[in-house]
Formats: sequence, C-alpha cells, structure tokens
Amino acid sequence: MRLAHQVIKELRAIHSPQYPLYEKILNHAFKINKPLFSEDKFSLKYADLSNNDEWFANSLIANSCLEGYGSQQIWNFSNMLDNDEYARRVRRHSLDESKHSTMFISALKLTFPNVLDHVDEQTKIKIDEMQPKYSSAHHPEIEKVPYEERLFEVESINQLVQVHITEIRALVLQYMVREAFIKHAPEHNRQKLMNISDILIRDEARHINYSADIFEHYASITGNKDYFYQIFEDRLRDFNLLTQEEIDREEIEL
Ligand SMILES: [Fe+2]
Ligand SMILES: [Fe+2]
Repeated sequence: MRLAHQVIKELRAIHSPQYPLYEKILNHAFKINKPLFSEDKFSLKYADLSNNDEWFANSLIANSCLEGYGSQQIWNFSNMLDNDEYARRVRRHSLDESKHSTMFISALKLTFPNVLDHVDEQTKIKIDEMQPKYSSAHHPEIEKVPYEERLFEVESINQLVQVHITEIRALVLQYMVREAFIKHAPEHNRQKLMNISDILIRDEARHINYSADIFEHYASITGNKDYFYQIFEDRLRDFNLLTQEEIDREEIEL
C-alpha cells in the first residue's frame, strides 16, 4: 500500500476528521520525494537485523531511550511556541512519548523474559533514568521562553512539519517492531505485546492527526497552500538524507 494511503487509513481508524488539503499535500510530497523509510529495502533490512535476538533486545532499549529523549525535546519545543493551543497539543504529545519510553522496556521484558537478569545494576539504573516518566500531574514546567526566542506561526508550522514526518516514520516502524515481537516473544506473552503494539500504533496515528489538524486549519485560514507544498517537499528531502545515513550505519531504530 502506498504510504500516503496508509497514513490516511490510519487517521480514519482513529476517527479523525477529513483533511482534504493536507491529504493532497501529503500525496504530492510523497510522490516527489518517496520516503525512504517506506521502501521495501528498509523493512527488509529491519526484518533481517531483527532476526537476531541481541540486536532486537538492544533496539528495544534504544527505542526506549529515543522515545524518552524525544519526549523531553518535544516538551522544550512546546515552551517555544507562542500559540497556546499548539503548545497544549504538543505537551500532550510529549506525555505520550514518555509513556512509550516506559512501554518499550515493558515490551523488552515480555519479549525476552529473563533478559534483565544478567544485566548489572548500573545498566538497570541507566535504563530506568532514560524514561522521563511524565504524567499529567508530574512533568517539567510550563514556562514559555522569552518573547524574542518564541516561534510564531510560520516557524512553528515549519518545525511541526518536521515533527509530523518523524511521527509517520514512527508509525511505519511500529509495524516492523510488531512483526519482530511475534518472531521472538514466548507464546504466553504475545497477546500482551500485541496490546502494547496497538497502543503505540494508535498513539503515533494521534500524533500525525493533531499536527495534520493544525496544518489543515492554518492553510485554510491563511490560504497559504504553496508554502505547505514547499515545506513538505523540503522537509521530506532532508528526512530522506538522514534516513539514508542511518541505513548506511545500520542504525534504523525508532
Ligand atoms: Fe512514540
Ligand atoms: Fe509519536
């Protein structure tokens, strides 16, 4: 299935509104710069690498670390946004990524039940510290940066497009991780892992949804469609270059 169609299908699955303009831009951008992470060679390489127990266990820890780091970065980003509504949605996104960081460690334990028995205390502490463990009651300050450092509409949107493409890649990768869970996990833990995978996929679709919603409204209000076509193309080209470097280094974690 073409990726733009898959994204739109995932949005329908979470009952998102329809975004006619966004859908056109997405189709166009993916035609001009086909995302490398949606190509067969990317999923084949992931499937090949993840056949190895140790590689897959390490990649789950790396995913936990990246989700945790992403959560903190996204929280910082929310404080840079001048628009309060965008900031509120981005903070909610940050809480989800923090939750994902912890979920990847739960998934590790379910996939390889004894894996942490042989890990030294210091590594366990490190794994624990990588998880921000944010919640709606416990999170960093909501403190906007000074006015002169703020991101206003156009810059906010530009950066949100970058976040958006990262979320589409996260969604694609969740499906590959899901296959690897099935490959490695003991039978009695598979259902729990599928439930975790369902939540991860639903959340990534929600992250795609809230930013698509912002783009659709902004483009319809300002009428600045050409700008969107251009930044989607530009950001996707940048993203493909980065993905290629990662494939070359065999580091295709989330
Ligand atoms: Fe995530
Ligand atoms: Fe996400």
